[in-house]
Amino acid sequence: MREATLRVFRGDKGGGSEVEYHVPIEEGWVVLDAIHHIQAEMDGTLACRWNCKAAKCGSCSAEINGKPALLCKTRIDALPQGRPIVVYPIRTFPLIRDLVTDVSWNYEVAKRIKPFQYDPAIGDKPFVMYQNDLGRPREFRKCIECFLCQNVCHVLRDHGAKSQYFGPRHMIRLAGLEMHPMDVEDRTEMIWKEGGVGFCNITKCCEEVCPEHIHLTDNAIIPLKERVIDSVGMLRVIKGWVRGKTDSE
Ligand code: SF4
Ligand code: F3S
Ligand code: FES
Repeated sequence: MREATLRVFRGDKGGGSEVEYHVPIEEGWVVLDAIHHIQAEMDGTLACRWNCKAAKCGSCSAEINGKPALLCKTRIDALPQGRPIVVYPIRTFPLIRDLVTDVSWNYEVAKRIKPFQYDPAIGDKPFVMYQNDLGRPREFRKCIECFLCQNVCHVLRDHGAKSQYFGPRHMIRLAGLEMHPMDVEDRTEMIWKEGGVGFCNITKCCEEVCPEHIHLTDNAIIPLKERVIDSVGMLRVIKGWVRGKTDSE
């Protein structure tokens, strides 16, 4: 049986450090299997959040060898061999303990987004939608809310701009609603001001880490920017026109 060396962050908001574990590895194991082995056989106090072990609940987000990834989707044999596997919690959100962070800010943001609004004028008529109207919103609905994209986005992570930018996960939620053919709510103002879409400078780091391979920038953020710029651009034209008239008076 092979053995892997794991260096796992242990600590809480007061501080912490890496602890080394030598774990016997079985064929086909993912990093979460090794964490479970540590919990069962070596140290039951190691805290880690998980649920499905099938890359669908989004709970086991972490940083493995410095890269945001799901513990249950990262195979040990796919990592560089002969080197320790370094496991940290996602670091854009406050640490609770060991590998568990508090991601509740995301749920607060989600509550602020205006929900789907069905056109009341349609009344009792059949709800007819065409297949090609569904493609984009369907892609965004694959999101498992692992928040790895939020973790890697430099606007949130390095600049701490949570009060100015909702982050890529919430941009795809907004895009999914805005592109829905039956939705009549206008969220343009929110996307621009409160949501802060202008802070995204299309580095695409969010796309690289998304376990669902959602095209966050090309299919959501860029179209949202275009939509908002069309709208804000028009406002500016009107403002400029009004100011021009005022100036000449
Ligand atoms: Fe996770 Fe992708 Fe959803 Fe972001 S968009 S929360 S990376 S599944
Ligand atoms: Fe952040 Fe993705 Fe934009 S990483 S800056 S949301 S392209
Ligand atoms: Fe559910 Fe990893 S345990 S996504």
